[in-house]
Amino acid sequence: MTQRVLTGITTTGTLHLGNYVGAIRPAIEASREAGVESFFFMADYHALIKCEDPARIARSRLEIAAVWLAAGLDPERVTFYRQSDIPEIPELTWLLTCVTSKGQMNRAHAYKASVDANVAAGEDEDAGITMGLYSYPILMAADILMFNAHRVPVGKDQVQHIEMARDVAQRFNHLFGHGEELFVLPEAQVDAEMELLPGLDGRKMSKSYDNVVPLFNGGAQGLRDAIARVVTDSKLPGEPKDPEGQALVQLYDAFATREQRAAFRTALREGLGWGDAKKQLFELIDGQIGAMRTKYEELLAHPERIETILQQGAAKARALAAPLLAKARTAVGLTAFTAIAEPAKAEKVAKAALPLFKQYRESDGQFYFKLVAADGSTLLQSQAFAGGREAGQWVSRLKTEGAAALAEAPVQVLGDAASALAQLQAALES
Ligand code: TRP
Repeated sequence: MTQRVLTGITTTGTLHLGNYVGAIRPAIEASREAGVESFFFMADYHALIKCEDPARIARSRLEIAAVWLAAGLDPERVTFYRQSDIPEIPELTWLLTCVTSKGQMNRAHAYKASVDANVAAGEDEDAGITMGLYSYPILMAADILMFNAHRVPVGKDQVQHIEMARDVAQRFNHLFGHGEELFVLPEAQVDAEMELLPGLDGRKMSKSYDNVVPLFNGGAQGLRDAIARVVTDSKLPGEPKDPEGQALVQLYDAFATREQRAAFRTALREGLGWGDAKKQLFELIDGQIGAMRTKYEELLAHPERIETILQQGAAKARALAAPLLAKARTAVGLTAFTAIAEPAKAEKVAKAALPLFKQYRESDGQFYFKLVAADGSTLLQSQAFAGGREAGQWVSRLKTEGAAALAEAPVQVLGDAASALAQLQAALES
């Protein structure tokens, strides 16, 4: 069975090397595996929760789309879209909101952290907290359930959200599924890699620590400058250095083969200067992302190309989202009034279920008829007649007189023909 894997990135800033190593590179690699159907999207509705600067939102979603494409995402192979191009997502969000308990949202880490910060600052608990922040996990659940994703690769901080999506899916299925699994229960996939990359100061690379190495922005020079600022010890060139625990070495590892890693360590132990080590690190990284950066810049110069790709992606995504949303709407009772005109429907079914007479001529030149039940089984089989007319007369007698004519008719009774004929007669008389 194909596994659906879904990855979303909130579009509030620019991407750094940690995003590339931790999320983008592994996700693109995974999307090339056989048996995997990947979904990639810009979580721009989520971005609105954290950012009220329209220019920044607009720029960020464009840049992040360009990064994915430049890094080798194949929009033919995967489904690549902007969250805000899929109106089914906010609609599903509402259906899910109605089955999500407030208590569970009270326990969401992001909301709780904001409350704690308010309390610590002596403010009202909910000061500055929007309903967007509060309901963030439900929108995220809709992102995931809308495409029945099986796996969602995330960092540790997002695992709770995936568990919430599971709970909501389970609840919806239980309330409205009538035994059917309307929504797949997603699983978080936490890769060790996603936590790995250190920033300039050795702590996890993160915008909030202001220790990031930009991925493409600033060009090759930006990369070189950032690497120059990686904190090392103060050993001089020629002095043996302990490579373990050095941020510089960990950054190197993230791009190196096993052989390169070993050689780099040996060189440091033998006294390679930090300046030269940084040069090597720059060469290594730039060798891998340099061509991507060129493609990135080219794409940014042609936003219309990205737009076209995303429009196609949205159409592809909506082709899946629309029927599932329709099912969910029906499940909760939001159906067209014509669809609940039960009597008309029942009549049709009853007619379709009636047995049928079939007259035919065999290759022996003789004429026959038979009575066939709705399930296709034969109830009556006539003998052969020389003419079609005679066969036809028997058919009309059986239809009008029903089971009463059965004893005289030149037929072989195979199934419950008597009740079938009674049914037929009743239908004809009504
Ligand atoms: N909340 C995620 C983050 O901040 C982004 C995101 C939004 C997401 N919707 C998602 C991730 C659905 C995975 C699946 O990183």
